[in-house]
Amino acid sequence: MISLKNLNKSYKVGKDDVPILRDIQLHVKEGEFLAIMGPSGSGKSTLMNIIGCLDKPTSGEYFLDENDMLQGKEGKLAKLRNNEIGFVFQTFHLLPRLTALQNVELPLVYAGMRKKERRQRALDVLQKVGLADRVGFSPTRLSGGQKQRVAIARALVNNPRFILADEPTGALDTKTGEQILSLFAELNKEGVTVIMITHDKEVADKADRIVYIRDGELRSQEQVEEVSSNV
Ligand SMILES: Nc1ncnc2c1ncn2[C@@H]1O[C@H](COP(=O)(O)OP(=O)(O)O)[C@@H](O)[C@H]1O
Ligand SMILES: [Mg+2]
Repeated sequence: MISLKNLNKSYKVGKDDVPILRDIQLHVKEGEFLAIMGPSGSGKSTLMNIIGCLDKPTSGEYFLDENDMLQGKEGKLAKLRNNEIGFVFQTFHLLPRLTALQNVELPLVYAGMRKKERRQRALDVLQKVGLADRVGFSPTRLSGGQKQRVAIARALVNNPRFILADEPTGALDTKTGEQILSLFAELNKEGVTVIMITHDKEVADKADRIVYIRDGELRSQEQVEEVSSNV
């Protein structure tokens, strides 16, 4: 489904090109629950932004199915981004002046769905994440775990092909974080592809597969084991 080949990203700092991602190869199959793990500053968010079409690499290829995500027109990419990808962030990114329901409805407003239909869909996904009794609440009156559930409902409301989650448990206590991870696992069982970024090994262990990123280079579990057994 997702295919990254020879992907590089660098930033210009003064006269220098500072490499952030180096020769990334990554293939994600439909239905996978993948964790991308690495320490702070290793390039995780940069990679997520590229997969999410929020940023472009300096060179390389990115295909989503047969779609070349680096060549398309901005309008087509925006459409793919809205329809195919659900985003979940560490700090939730909810709008405090809207209710939980209105936050979840927002992507459907952008998609042009009629009010009655989008309200029903938003209610359905809020129920799915266990928040049926909080739909009228402002995010300011919700706990961290509840806020993240609203954010996950918003990510799901468009029926995306995959969810990209950047440190989704990073702002939550351990127990609440575990509940959020269980929710991802449940959604994954129902067929949603999940790509989760984390610096926490215990969190990454909840995924089916882990790839490691260090100084902008991606390694599989096998490659990491091979290096350590050669030392
Ligand atoms: N716009 C930018 N310009 C220059 N350097 C950047 C920019 N964005 C991120 N970086 C650098 O790229 C590296 C990786 O950042 P990031 O992808 O956010 O790491 P992570 O999410 O793993 O903590 C960091 O050293 C960061 O300082
Ligand atoms: Mg980050």
